Amino acid sequence: MSYRVQFTGPAGTTAVEAAVRLARIAAGRERIVHLSGSYHGMTRDSIGVSGLGAPRGVPPATRGVTTVPHELEQPSAGRASEELERAFTAPGSTPPAAFIVETVQGEGGVRPTTTTRLREIERLCRAHGTLLVVDDIQAGCGRTGPFLSFEADGVEPDVVCLSKSLSGVGLPMGLVLIRPSLDVWDPGEYSGTFRGNNLAFVTARLALSEWWSDGALRQSVSQRSEPLVQGLTAIAARHDWLAPPTGRGLMLGLPCADRHVADLVSTLAFTQGLLVETCGRRGEVVKLLPPLTVTKAEVALQILEHVTDQVAGSRPVGSTLPAAT
Ligand SMILES: Cc1ncc(COP(=O)(O)O)c(C=O)c1O
Repeated sequence: MSYRVQFTGPAGTTAVEAAVRLARIAAGRERIVHLSGSYHGMTRDSIGVSGLGAPRGVPPATRGVTTVPHELEQPSAGRASEELERAFTAPGSTPPAAFIVETVQGEGGVRPTTTTRLREIERLCRAHGTLLVVDDIQAGCGRTGPFLSFEADGVEPDVVCLSKSLSGVGLPMGLVLIRPSLDVWDPGEYSGTFRGNNLAFVTARLALSEWWSDGALRQSVSQRSEPLVQGLTAIAARHDWLAPPTGRGLMLGLPCADRHVADLVSTLAFTQGLLVETCGRRGEVVKLLPPLTVTKAEVALQILEHVTDQVAGSRPVGSTLPAAT
């Protein structure tokens, strides 16, 4: 790859902050466009460009940010394209500095952005001199199969944010990949004491050479994903308060009727030795992020099958699945 690498600090949110600031400097514009339901971190600019809403005590960023509804929230593909186009061409506004996007929204409910949509975003970015920033912090590092989640989508982002699994063993590490012509930082302009975590550099280097020197892990992620998707589909078919699984690779979501049942699934699973989080705009999705090397995925399925039966036995009659988001 021809990207420059910038070590931004050990958290994902620091990578996003750097990407947003660089985009604004490089483009000489302020506005950032994002999709509803996106999540980019907990520091000020990252919250500002997140589409999940500002957390308690943080005023929402109303300046310089435009939200485009995620395609799953649109009644038709045509309407989704219109909304997207409008974010670039709204009368009286200069085009945006950057469009920031997750290929699969993690915290937003394991919602993939389709290849068509990603290409449409890229086309509009190119047409309007807008930087395409892919936040691959959750979906990258093999989580959805390829090392970079967009490899199969045929798009070439200007900036890529990476963190989370990058060190290979759960050590804090964050970075941005920058198209060289956009590396407009002055020396030391974005510096800090802990920009690199030495131990994480060593393990990340090893993880890359051990697992990513060939296509084996990528292939095994899709092989391991298949039975999980099948198992989750079968579980969802047993209950009217579950929808079919969403996601890609080993980043999967099981949408529930509401956050209460999703919480119950997660809590009961925990008591039986399985860690599953909840996510989604209303906290209604159970999220599965197993290790990429998981060998006993069927154990998780057995636990989930048992737990969802338990939840079904304890649910009040009448709470069924709302329209999917
Ligand atoms: C897509 C995405 N971007 C950014 C972040 C923020 O990363 P961190 O929690 O390391 O600050 C997260 C965390 O969940 C994320 O999923």
